[in-house]
Amino acid sequence: MSSDESNGVIEMKEGIANAGFEDGQDGDAGADIYEEVVEPGAAHPQPYAGMPKEVLLLYSGQARYRLPREILFWLTVLSTLALVVVTATVIALSPRCLSWWQASPVYQVYPRSFQDSDNDGIGDLKGIQSRLDHFEYLNVKAVWISPFFKSPMKDFGYDVEDFREIDPIFGTMEDFENLLAAMHDQGLKLIMDFIPNHTSDQHEWFKLSRNRTEPYTDYFIWHDCQNTSLGTVPPNNWVSVFGNSAWQYDAERQQCYLHQFLKEQPELNFRHPDVRREITDVIRFWLEKGVDGLRIDAAKHILEAKHLRDEPQVNPEQPPENVTAYWQLHHDYTTTQLGTHEIIQEWRAVMDEYSREPGRYRFLMTDSYDGGEIEKSMMYYGTPLVKEADFPFNFYLVELLDAMSGNGAFSLVNTWLSNMPKGRWPNWVIGNHDMTRLSSRAGKAYVNVLNMLLLTLPGTPSTYYGEEIGMENVNVTESEIQDPLGKFNVSMNRDPGRSPMQWSSDDNASFSKNKTWLPVHPDYKTVNVETQKNASWSTLRQYRALSLLRTAEPPLHRGWMCLVWSDNNTFAFLRELDGFPAAFLVVLNFGAAATVDLSSALPGVPPQLRLRMSTHHPGSGQLVSLGQVRTETGEGLVLEYAAGHPVHSHPAFQDQCYVSEKACYLSTMGILHSNC
Ligand code: GLC
Ligand code: MG
Repeated sequence: MSSDESNGVIEMKEGIANAGFEDGQDGDAGADIYEEVVEPGAAHPQPYAGMPKEVLLLYSGQARYRLPREILFWLTVLSTLALVVVTATVIALSPRCLSWWQASPVYQVYPRSFQDSDNDGIGDLKGIQSRLDHFEYLNVKAVWISPFFKSPMKDFGYDVEDFREIDPIFGTMEDFENLLAAMHDQGLKLIMDFIPNHTSDQHEWFKLSRNRTEPYTDYFIWHDCQNTSLGTVPPNNWVSVFGNSAWQYDAERQQCYLHQFLKEQPELNFRHPDVRREITDVIRFWLEKGVDGLRIDAAKHILEAKHLRDEPQVNPEQPPENVTAYWQLHHDYTTTQLGTHEIIQEWRAVMDEYSREPGRYRFLMTDSYDGGEIEKSMMYYGTPLVKEADFPFNFYLVELLDAMSGNGAFSLVNTWLSNMPKGRWPNWVIGNHDMTRLSSRAGKAYVNVLNMLLLTLPGTPSTYYGEEIGMENVNVTESEIQDPLGKFNVSMNRDPGRSPMQWSSDDNASFSKNKTWLPVHPDYKTVNVETQKNASWSTLRQYRALSLLRTAEPPLHRGWMCLVWSDNNTFAFLRELDGFPAAFLVVLNFGAAATVDLSSALPGVPPQLRLRMSTHHPGSGQLVSLGQVRTETGEGLVLEYAAGHPVHSHPAFQDQCYVSEKACYLSTMGILHSNC
């Protein structure tokens, strides 16, 4: 192309553009103009900015323009597709982050006994706040605090006088708010004990119900009964959990009211819509304060049958007037009544309203001991469509404490896992404020192996304060008994497991400077946090090490669990996660020293495993042969091996393995695991 021609084009371009704009003509007019200005015999005009459609089409069809354009187009389509596929794969393969209540043990604080800050001999909220470092040391992120509401303390706080106030023994609302803020600052979650089933007889609602002030008249369960100088003839044979008739005559109202626990704990009437609303309002009150979770006390007792028929006797031959103990009746009409789950589902829905912000999930667990009828516990998990508790407390392992054996451990673990609805999250309890201490019940020799079992099983472990150092039952003489249940029946006294936390070998174990409400156990000089922290190996150090190991190793906190072996002495299971290079074999001894050959039980597991942890010493790294795994009495081992073909997909393990949420591990995406 000559320079003249190109000049011509430039002039022409200006001419066309101006003409087009001035005349406001469309493409056809532009074509006319083009015909006018193109010199006859001249080549096609060169492309230029603002060219009309026809010019554009003329060039766009040419291979040198079309090809790059099509290549670019397909490149864009393909890379978008690839991006979508990669994103979907990453999402599908990467593990869902565990929620906070799944990622850490739940530690139970009994506030009377944890730490006293004002030296009245009883623990309090400020005391708990001063001990937050202990949770950090244990790598515990979720703390359940037994009740601290205003209460006459007949059942040490499980008799609530005001659901919206803090008892002065424990401090003030400001102390509570400070504690909660301090816990949140340290990344700790606070789970409150919540007692909807009953109030104290000092609660305003009961006082107003007693004198028939509306709308409170039917807030509790009242019924006519005979009261003569010889005593009360109750409406039926129902017996309180704490013994004797569940009915109490009230002289003011001249009727009997129902109490499934102490007579100072009247049952709320959950068939009354106002009671339902009041309790939901209380839940909202605490959620608005920022509480992270609730433990629903005595859930199965919430409703009673309206017909008030006698409950069947366990021994039909027993003279009915002699039936005074709870276990002498089948509690068909006072527990797990139709409608109970709807009520808890309602509470869950309220909690969901407060769970919408990221990281603010409000957790719900239920206390509902099922006495061997496990399907009753499982119902608290809700259904795939209707949410209920995140988990009901699993008390099954407690049975192990009275009959230690490898087979026992196997069967109790399996009972929960095989009955649990698919995909739900297990949990394990071996101690709480209603039980005796592990050390006294199972024996000192087994405390470490029990803690190892708890922290290596899949699901959330629950630890009652003091079990991390192996505290023992304290002796309480009959005249010193504080627990109302113990006053009714010494053999049921719960004081021995509620003695002050042993922090150090100083006076009163550093729990308080004054006489303590229950005696400090005399073993506090050696069994205490400080001493055990400084020892090279101790129950406390083991607890911490296990808790850290659980967090650090994805197979342990979220992987598959396969039941591998059990006999009288030994219980073994493994933990593995698809794609994770390491897997763990846990071998626990609940009987006499024993050597087991696990090589034929475990296809594809290498013959040599590396000791990651033992209950008995701080050492690790030694090689252990799969054909000869030796454990002493009460010894537990965590053994690590290079994972090959997953055991859970082996046909022989079809019914032996369990996982809550399937997840694969990709080392390149390790960052996803570490950020959960
Ligand atoms: C639950 C508590 C227990 C309390 C009872 C009555 O069983 O664990 O301590 O006495 O409820 O509230
Ligand atoms: Mg009730």
